[in-house]
Amino acid sequence: MAKPFRSLELAGSSVKVYSSATHACEAAADRIAKTIRICVEIRSKAVLGLATGATPEPVYAGLVERHRAGELSFAPVSTYNLDEYYPMGPLDPNSYRSYMERHLFGHVDLAPDRAHILDGTVPAAFAAQSAAQFDHWIAADGGLDLQLLGVGRNGHIGFNEPTDLSVAEALALPTRPVDLHPTTTEDAAGDFGGADRVPRRALTMGIASILAARSILVLAFGPRKAEAVAGSLRGPMTARVPGSLLQAVGPKVTWLVDREAAAEIL
Ligand code: GLP
Repeated sequence: MAKPFRSLELAGSSVKVYSSATHACEAAADRIAKTIRICVEIRSKAVLGLATGATPEPVYAGLVERHRAGELSFAPVSTYNLDEYYPMGPLDPNSYRSYMERHLFGHVDLAPDRAHILDGTVPAAFAAQSAAQFDHWIAADGGLDLQLLGVGRNGHIGFNEPTDLSVAEALALPTRPVDLHPTTTEDAAGDFGGADRVPRRALTMGIASILAARSILVLAFGPRKAEAVAGSLRGPMTARVPGSLLQAVGPKVTWLVDREAAAEIL
């Protein structure tokens, strides 16, 4: 198992710094596989919250590898993804549904009716209502055992972008439609072939929904994430840096970062 070269505690959370993103992703895959095994043993099922983006790709590769080696089954697992662009068709290569099919769903024994992603095809007038249902589905499934998270360059988690809300208001945010921040649009421009082609809106699990998970694993790699990591762990809790809101549930959060992303916290 990959070992961190430095472990520290910040804002009540455990922070593990790895010599490379590869090692951190191995540790994340181990932790997810272990969570699945323990939850299945205790209550015959496991419920995971999943993330997209470049950051967790090697984690999914690691899980697929364990499945192929006969070490891990997703048959008793259900998954809920953090977010989806809006509007967005499931077959669009840029949809998070396509991403999940490419990196995980298409390669493991996860049942299609247990692999949940917010629906980017609902009519605009019903988008809020449809997104809110997601929180009911998660609750009815017994809540998330583990939420995997990445962090945006501007500190966003899921698509919960920086806002001027009070901390109390931000902590109560449910799953809902949101407008994307210009930094997020800029970061997604490469995937979509230009910033003007990136959808302006998205559906995201809320801060309240994320923080309700029984454990949270946050991944951040590379120098571009250093400021967001420092703001989340060293700064005050503020809705201007959504990652800092994880401090509200510090003890159940583990950060797995590489040296570059940890540059401003060491
Ligand atoms: C996207 C996703 C987030 C993700 C973040 C970082 O906007 N909605 O869930 O954590 O960007 O992405 P990346 O891992 O590609 O840096």
